[in-house]
Amino acid sequence: MNTHKALQLVTRDDDGVATAFREDVLRGLNQEQKAIPARWLYDDAGSQLFEDITQLPEYYPTRAETEILKEQSSSFAEMIAPGCAVVEFGSGSSVKTPLLLSAIDPAAYVPLDISGDFLRASAKELAAKFPSLPIHPVEADFMRQVELPTGVESVPKLGFFPGSTIGNMIARTAVDLLRSMRETLGEGAKLLIGMDLIKDAEILEAAYDDAAGVTAQFNYNLIRRINRELDADIDLDALKHEARWNDEYARVEMHLVAQRDFKFTVAGRQFALAKGESLHTENSHKFNRRTSSMMLLAGGWEPQARWLDSKERFSLILAEARPNRSAP
Ligand code: AVI
Repeated sequence: MNTHKALQLVTRDDDGVATAFREDVLRGLNQEQKAIPARWLYDDAGSQLFEDITQLPEYYPTRAETEILKEQSSSFAEMIAPGCAVVEFGSGSSVKTPLLLSAIDPAAYVPLDISGDFLRASAKELAAKFPSLPIHPVEADFMRQVELPTGVESVPKLGFFPGSTIGNMIARTAVDLLRSMRETLGEGAKLLIGMDLIKDAEILEAAYDDAAGVTAQFNYNLIRRINRELDADIDLDALKHEARWNDEYARVEMHLVAQRDFKFTVAGRQFALAKGESLHTENSHKFNRRTSSMMLLAGGWEPQARWLDSKERFSLILAEARPNRSAP
């Protein structure tokens, strides 16, 4: 599964360096609050570390969402007519996607991913589980409108965007994505989207700073990648992983905090971090009923149903792209 990897658009220069990566890192290091876009966390090592995170006792979102998909299969079948085309934004999870497909009996499955390799591998895995289901993988950047295969043109659409990946985007980007999804799927389409819920700061911070240190390694891996790919010399020992709940923005932030003053070079440019200063590497926004509805409505989606896991930690929301009506 790799929704996150899917967000990487990689162009390489003459030296084989991903130019977008270098530009993002240099721009981020020149800001007052140094920051690096979270999409760069997902190279091969980072993607594997994220898979490991989903198995951690503290990291509840994957288990909670899987529980909803298992427990609510009959409600999905009631609300989603059989014979629709499931359009998944990302190449699909080996656990969650089969649960949804088994629940609703669709006419086709269309995974969208920018990484052709991931797309082909997961489509093959799914074809083995659902031999009679037509699968139409589309290699595309789903942050923009995507043209769907002609075979599913006249079929009702259900978008699927699990994992609360929407929470890794700032509000403006999240709304842009929801609007693109509406354009891709068309009026009348439905969207089943996972959104993690606001809860006690201790639970949230533990989910992003686990006792085994896997999330810390996930964060440090970004520095290893910068050092390797951008000819940098950032001293990893001088940085400490931190997960902070930012209540104002309702998000968990990952930071790498300098333990002492130090200087470093990235792609021939000099930078410095003062003790206590941080590099901000990820946001994971959390929602409640009102804020999730507001976000979906802003993106052109009207919430229709909302399911929670038994411990009320995570939500799966079904929304519909209703025609625009005049409003007061
Ligand atoms: C991929 N995404 C939804 C994860 C999250 O929970 O925000 C990424 C993650 N970062 C640290 N742990 C997990």
